[in-house]
Amino acid sequence: MASETETFAFQAEINQLLSLIINTFYSNKEIFLRELISNASDALDKIRFESLTDKSKLDAQPELFIRIIPDKATNTLTLIDSGIGMTKSDLVNNLGTIARSGTKDFMEALAAGADVSMIGQFGVGFYSAYLVAERVIVTSKHNDDEQYVWESQAGGSFTVTRDTTGEPLGRGTKITLYLKDDQDYVTRMKEGQNDIYYITGESKKAVENSPFLEKLKKKGYEVLYMVDAIDEYSIGQLKEFEGKKLVSATKEGLKLDDSEEEKKRKEELKEKFEGLCKVIKEVLGDRVEKVIVSDRVVDSPCCLVTGEYGWTANMERIMKAQALRDTSMGGYMSSKKTMEINPENAIMEELRKRADADKNDKSVKDLVMLLFETSLLTSGFSLDDPNTFGTRIHRMLKLGLSIDEDEEAAEADTDMPPLEEDAGESKMEEVD
Ligand SMILES: Nc1ncnc2c1ncn2[C@@H]1O[C@H](COP(=O)(O)OP(=O)(O)OP(=O)(O)O)[C@@H](O)[C@H]1O
Ligand SMILES: [Mg+2]
Repeated sequence: MASETETFAFQAEINQLLSLIINTFYSNKEIFLRELISNASDALDKIRFESLTDKSKLDAQPELFIRIIPDKATNTLTLIDSGIGMTKSDLVNNLGTIARSGTKDFMEALAAGADVSMIGQFGVGFYSAYLVAERVIVTSKHNDDEQYVWESQAGGSFTVTRDTTGEPLGRGTKITLYLKDDQDYVTRMKEGQNDIYYITGESKKAVENSPFLEKLKKKGYEVLYMVDAIDEYSIGQLKEFEGKKLVSATKEGLKLDDSEEEKKRKEELKEKFEGLCKVIKEVLGDRVEKVIVSDRVVDSPCCLVTGEYGWTANMERIMKAQALRDTSMGGYMSSKKTMEINPENAIMEELRKRADADKNDKSVKDLVMLLFETSLLTSGFSLDDPNTFGTRIHRMLKLGLSIDEDEEAAEADTDMPPLEEDAGESKMEEVD
């Protein structure tokens, strides 16, 4: 029996909002994913709540989950949740015909210069899907109704059809986004090695010279740069791709195939730097979980790695930028960092000598802090306290320029003197 398709007009303001979303240029389109994930998570909360008083509500699908499935071949992104789902009338009302007070408010806010990322505060987050998709299909199954399909390419209307042919969801919602052609949002991956290494970051430029890639590059491995927020989210859902293990270059658990010789050398260095690792951990305290000898940095003195199951530096950046309504997540998800030091680096070697000579050496403490703050930056984190970092850098500059701290303090003007004036006394090479 063929099911009938009903067509509905979007409520006037929703329609206006859709045109605005589709036709205006916004750069941070990736916020749509946060909105859809937040809806899925709300839906899970609702069914969880209902099941407290009636366990049978979970029967149709006992497992509670959200899945994100990118498909390069069809250029689609699909989100599936096993939440409460929507009945036919929910689909019609919630996704198009019942105006929310927030619709108009949001458009006014946009006109007044608000950022599109604020959409979630106005109760119209779902429509942000049209920032990246030209066509959206929502399949949903609620315990109280049959499975229905909502579909729209915007353009004023949407359809709702009873789903008699699609795969039964049991309970929940599946949203398929047909991505616009210019949206290269489906994860890009290449083949050719045992594991697939990837790095996530703000931009290609930001990750290109990352210390995390030094050894991988040296060994000639291919690394995927995943620089869209959506990459960061979807990669977190995937552990494998086409049978290959996905390995983050910035997290714990990166194991490169080293030769026997390399392994032996590493063991020796590990022993030699054990003391320094302890000293660094003491200086940094809770700022890091542990300090170990690195296998992935070749040139840089050190880097900061996050736990396999925690957030990457990039995820931390995204979450901070999005000012989540629920900030409680930040506490346990935010990264536990491991400092990995490079024993082959001259700075580390010198530091080791000083620490071995006197582990309470004041210069060691200062240098360690500076190294830590610098590697926060090179590893993609942000500084909580840029001013202290600045002060430390200035102190180093003065040292480099052989400016006496006391002498300088005596002067009223604390600005750095221009290089030329001081060139005579400076240890720095004169460039003439
Ligand atoms: N995955 C889903 N499962 C069940 N219902 C959903 C799902 N996605 C959307 N809905 C329904 O559609 C409605 C509209 O979603 P939308 O994101 O536009 O606003 P909202 O979630 O109510 O508000 P806000 O995003 O500000 O919290 C939701 O209130 C919910 O009823
Ligand atoms: Mg929402």
